[in-house]
Amino acid sequence: MINENFLKLQAGYLFPEISRRIRSFQAQNPDAKIISLGIGDVTQPLAPAVLEAMKKAVDDMGSETGFHGYGPERGYDFLIEAIIENDFKPRSVDLDKSEIFISDGAKCDTANIQEVFGVDNVIAVTDPVYPVYVDTNVMAGRTGQANENGQYDKIVYMPCTAENDFTPELPSSPVDIIYLCFPNNPTGAVVTKEILSKWVDFAHGNKAIILFDAAYEAFITDRQIPHSIYEVEGAKEVAIEFRSFSKTAGFTGLRCAFTVVPKQVRAYAKDGGAVEVNSLWSRRHSTKFNGASYISQAGAAAVYSPDGKKQTRRIIDIYMANAALIRESLTKLGYGVFGGVNAPYIWMKTPKGLSSWDFFDILLQKANVVGTPGVGFGRAGEGYFRLTAFGKPADVKEAMERFAAI
Ligand code: MLT
Repeated sequence: MINENFLKLQAGYLFPEISRRIRSFQAQNPDAKIISLGIGDVTQPLAPAVLEAMKKAVDDMGSETGFHGYGPERGYDFLIEAIIENDFKPRSVDLDKSEIFISDGAKCDTANIQEVFGVDNVIAVTDPVYPVYVDTNVMAGRTGQANENGQYDKIVYMPCTAENDFTPELPSSPVDIIYLCFPNNPTGAVVTKEILSKWVDFAHGNKAIILFDAAYEAFITDRQIPHSIYEVEGAKEVAIEFRSFSKTAGFTGLRCAFTVVPKQVRAYAKDGGAVEVNSLWSRRHSTKFNGASYISQAGAAAVYSPDGKKQTRRIIDIYMANAALIRESLTKLGYGVFGGVNAPYIWMKTPKGLSSWDFFDILLQKANVVGTPGVGFGRAGEGYFRLTAFGKPADVKEAMERFAAI
């Protein structure tokens, strides 16, 4: 017998569906030079400091003394210590090494974390949302069927549109697990510490847990915006945070990320007893995962070296210059444009009330430019379209020229 929950899933996963449409268009138009600003995949080469560290790690692996077999399940201390010192201490967040879990990606971590929670938990997600949060809960049986809008029964959706500045309202019905992603994928919105505090208070008041996806924190430019939910008082008792080297340091093809599960986070057993989530996640992690490779972890640690910091910052600046160019160009052309200031995603209104997929097709056919239809992230994304700033600068420039010509 199969897991029937899989039959509830809508169509294919968003990005493979986009790739399918591109392949079909390219097959019919072999000469078209397609520019992809669709999936948020990085294009700049790795920082030299990262490369050097990985070359050294490869040499280690080829030597009697430096060879590494299975690493510690939670990751190597050299990386965990660098994370604590550089990502959290400067923001006055004290973490213990046992609270950090190195992995091979935030997609997997945000997908897998739900396994430690019961299937009766009610989850709340923003709409639009990174589809992984929803689909993995569908697979686990935490939802009912989808309605005609693609929304699943038993999930609480929190619409984020231009009207509410892409900031979700607190749920009006009880929820157990809340997924928040800031800087947001797909809208590029960010939230202040004051807004995050309301969520933390809500979680305290409702015995809920916040799953905070901070994969894009390195793109924040506004000094007032928090990079970690733990900058908010009381968050350590109610929040789990996900980070990634994918976008920050170009690791999409290398794989390295981490999850922070503070020891204070508690969830409740049927008998009402409080259980430490850290030990559940540790059990899950060590049972199902054998660690990110030594070479990736050595590369990730080099992101925190003085040269690594400067070099990765330069790469992020390139992407944020792309974001600024996209914002300016589209604004000049009269489009409604959001995001792209503290995030590598630009969220735009489709013109003339076109549906997201209709605009996708027009853009592909007329400009040979690929973006991501907003509705692919949820019903409230209909009428919006996402562009990523992760393209090569020359491609982004050309894409904007082509936009002007449609
Ligand atoms: C996106 O385009 O939304 C991201 O690249 C997807 C991901 O990080 O998995």
